[in-house]
Amino acid sequence: MCGIVGYIGTKDAVKIILTGLKRLEYRGYDSAGVALLNDTSNGHLTDNLTILKRAGKVSELEKLILNQKSAIAEATQGIGHTRWATHGVPNDVNAHPHTDPENHIALVHNGIIENYGVIKQKLLTQGFTFRSETDTEVLTVFIRSMYDRVKDLTEAVRLALSEVEGTFGIAVVSTLEPDKIIAARRGSPLLVGVGDGEYFVASDASAVIQYTRQVIYLDDDEMAILSRDGYATKTIGDETTNPAIQEIHFDLASIEKGGFDHFMLKEIYEQPNTFHDAFRGRLLASEGNVRLGGLTPVLDKLRRANRIIFTACGTSWHSALVGEYIIEQLAGIPVEVEYASEFRYRNPVITPDDVVIAISQSGETADTLAAIKEARMKGATVIGLVNVVGSSIARETDAGIYLHAGPEIGVASTKAFTSQLAAILLIALHLGRTRRLSPREGMDIAQAIERIPEQIQYILDHAESVKKIAEQYTDARNFLYLGRGYNFPVALEGALKLKEISYIHAEGYPAAEMKHGPIALIDENMPVVCIATQDEIYDKIISNIQEVRARNGNVIAIASEGDKRIAEFAEHVIYIPNTLPILTPVLAVIPLQLLAYYVAVQRGCNVDMPRNLAKSVTVE
Ligand code: AGP
Ligand code: GLU
Repeated sequence: MCGIVGYIGTKDAVKIILTGLKRLEYRGYDSAGVALLNDTSNGHLTDNLTILKRAGKVSELEKLILNQKSAIAEATQGIGHTRWATHGVPNDVNAHPHTDPENHIALVHNGIIENYGVIKQKLLTQGFTFRSETDTEVLTVFIRSMYDRVKDLTEAVRLALSEVEGTFGIAVVSTLEPDKIIAARRGSPLLVGVGDGEYFVASDASAVIQYTRQVIYLDDDEMAILSRDGYATKTIGDETTNPAIQEIHFDLASIEKGGFDHFMLKEIYEQPNTFHDAFRGRLLASEGNVRLGGLTPVLDKLRRANRIIFTACGTSWHSALVGEYIIEQLAGIPVEVEYASEFRYRNPVITPDDVVIAISQSGETADTLAAIKEARMKGATVIGLVNVVGSSIARETDAGIYLHAGPEIGVASTKAFTSQLAAILLIALHLGRTRRLSPREGMDIAQAIERIPEQIQYILDHAESVKKIAEQYTDARNFLYLGRGYNFPVALEGALKLKEISYIHAEGYPAAEMKHGPIALIDENMPVVCIATQDEIYDKIISNIQEVRARNGNVIAIASEGDKRIAEFAEHVIYIPNTLPILTPVLAVIPLQLLAYYVAVQRGCNVDMPRNLAKSVTVE
């Protein structure tokens, strides 16, 4: 995710772009920058781009610009970007806009250029040089190499994008053809704002709504060429298009949340895309294997590990617990899971043959960071599964996998959890294929992983049924969540979601453990959520459900599509699509996220910023 704003017209481009970037900052805030051109129509020929960019929030860029006022006073055209890093740590050099070596073309980008490595090698052999670590700079230089061939900016952009694999939302300006902004998208949102003698490009309507409500939402593989005299659109395949101009009816606040009432709900609904982004370019489905470039430095260590130790906190600890079951099942490597806060102080026995995997959405959790340092001091190889690129934990590890889930604004972690599971599945599949898994088994798992995004979407399309159940339990004072095997950690996660945003006490338990104490809690006032997907221990969980019913407990079952028996034992049944047992946690957690969300909303709680909590616990 990131925020893109472009403007061409007769007004103060700096003011318009900065205001728009602030509106888009929820999409990413690692760094910000602008590329500006003066208005050549009034005789001010522009022989260079003014590029101003800096790590940090838009406010940092604003300070930088204030010191350069003279150089950009007349800029009436430009592009801006607020970054959510995927390739290259958040610093001034990696900030967008990126330019070609002669600073004639400037580009801002939202997305991931998967084949940037191959393209970069080709450009290096042509004598091009690079300043940054980003995939975006490679695209910028690639466009310049095309321009040198065809001497037409629009055609150069089109030809370059024709060879790109991955996702992009881009805006391009150039001194080679000033008075023009070129925009294009594939997989990342981008719109054109249509004003009166002025035109805008933006990642979403919040950046343009104060100037115009007339917008064109570009389609995948569609380009727009904007000038002060008008605009044209065509496909990257060079076919003219004629997209409809649409009227924006949303208000500003709802646009930032994508039309959802809360960031948490928006992030729950992003999961079909974010789960896909976690394995995009990494899952080799036809080979039943995985390409984990970020782990290259430690792959041998990982494959020969005597033991894998996960360390994390909260929701990330729950995904680690799922990881224990999955990696032991697929790869046969012993796995342990440690609360980071315990791990750091209990003087754990660690040897250089151990691999420690730290999981953290924020990459800044103090306990997890301390646990990593302890593990490294004892000689372990440390891997990070982190969402925030360049975060402290990412920098402290020997290697890692970025989740590519985009900013998670809601304090209750949702999309990060399923993206963590995606990363764990990739590691487990790779290790399994180097050990016990056959190509066929690997392909079966890979194909099941590829189907997950559409299966998540199926569950989201039936969210109304979860909402109706939530409405019946708004006043509950306690919940019990039960699961077995891969879904025991999901029971813990479901309980955490509910308690942290609705303030209802909730506990997760291994279903079989209930008779060793918690069953004393069961009565008609105790809702019991049971994850009862059909697998080899289905009959066992049915027995546990019957134990609950025998004590008048209210059972809400998460069950497999097509299960005809479960309705006999449960008051409510929420069905999820069938998948491999190791993948059920990714699907089973979705209704639990929705249940927690709807109960909390019914109770009037502050869903995105629950009391007493912070998005990242950077203190002990
Ligand atoms: C989860 O919903 C909570 N917000 C919290 O438990 C969180 O998972 C925990 O603080 C760990 O955060 P991290 O993943 O950023 O390290
Ligand atoms: N992949 C690009 C980068 O890491 C763009 C990231 C974004 O979408 O902000 O700079």
